[in-house]
Amino acid sequence: MKHVSLLVSAMVLAGVVLAVTARRRPCYDSRRRYIKWVPGCLSVIITTPHGGHLKPASIPDREAGCYVNGACVFEHGCGVQDPVKCRAKGKEDRFTAEIATNIARNLKRLTGCSPHLVYNQLHRSKLDANREVNEATLNVQEAMDAYYKFSAFIRAAQKEICGPGLLLDLHAQAHPGNRTELGYGIDTLNSGVFSARHSNVRALGRRVCGRNRACFEKLVRGHCPNSLGYYLNAEQYRAVPSPGLPTPGDNPYYADGYNVRTHGSLKGGLVDSILMDIPAEVRSSVGSRRRFAAAVARAVSRYISDHYSRGPWRHPVRPRRRRYHRH
Ligand SMILES: *[C@@H]1O[C@H](CO)[C@@H](O)[C@H](O)[C@H]1NC(C)=O
Repeated sequence: MKHVSLLVSAMVLAGVVLAVTARRRPCYDSRRRYIKWVPGCLSVIITTPHGGHLKPASIPDREAGCYVNGACVFEHGCGVQDPVKCRAKGKEDRFTAEIATNIARNLKRLTGCSPHLVYNQLHRSKLDANREVNEATLNVQEAMDAYYKFSAFIRAAQKEICGPGLLLDLHAQAHPGNRTELGYGIDTLNSGVFSARHSNVRALGRRVCGRNRACFEKLVRGHCPNSLGYYLNAEQYRAVPSPGLPTPGDNPYYADGYNVRTHGSLKGGLVDSILMDIPAEVRSSVGSRRRFAAAVARAVSRYISDHYSRGPWRHPVRPRRRRYHRH
């Protein structure tokens, strides 16, 4: 019943929004198109820091840094490299850009509005857009320019949202168990310590649960208030944490990452962030990627309808250039 009325209101909303929003042009960092922002009108930002394919010869491949006085120095020609302590991971997260595009298409169909999409189109061997700047770029200027544009586009999207919003940072993993990992910046799922204040969904936690930790635990992995994992389970997808799998147990699990920590509400503001780490099983074929993207879009639309509807879960499109207004 609840879903029926939700669907009806989503459809009404869709009609209204379709009438007033034109298709928005993508923005790029430069003519080289290393970073791409497709602005939307939904209070959701989807980022793919490791989904790029471009390997320009003008940017040398990232390599391991040197371990000097207890810290890694990421610099080409730094001296004796330490590939254990200062490893520079260069493997791309396959199909995350394609999945992001498909989630956006489905969200547009469901709500009438697209989320903001920010893609790093450079291959991870050239730029890792989910690390601090030195490890990300090894201080190569061309990569640094792209790096700063990636976060500038995220901040610009947050500014357009101008209120509560949700950033989903898409990644890929090949851990066993066919389960999507959801990272809220809470690395104490196993011990059951839940604190909104130290999480990347701090604003959401405060808004929905105040200081009630039992409530916040449900918001993260349970039902009523509903977690994102709950909605993924409802779509028949395994997720950690979720009512079906409340803890990672002994399995590998990423609770946090540079982007979600930097751009989520931990550091203030009203945009929360969740790291979504997609399993290999789901990424293995075009069909399963499409089914997953459609399911994530339904889950996200329910999640934001539950938790972000008092804020502008769709926001007005602000013209940044006059040509946006031309018919
Ligand atoms: C992984 O889970 C999805 C969602 O339940 C399912 O459709 C798919 O068949 C599973 N894949 C494998 C290889 O188990």
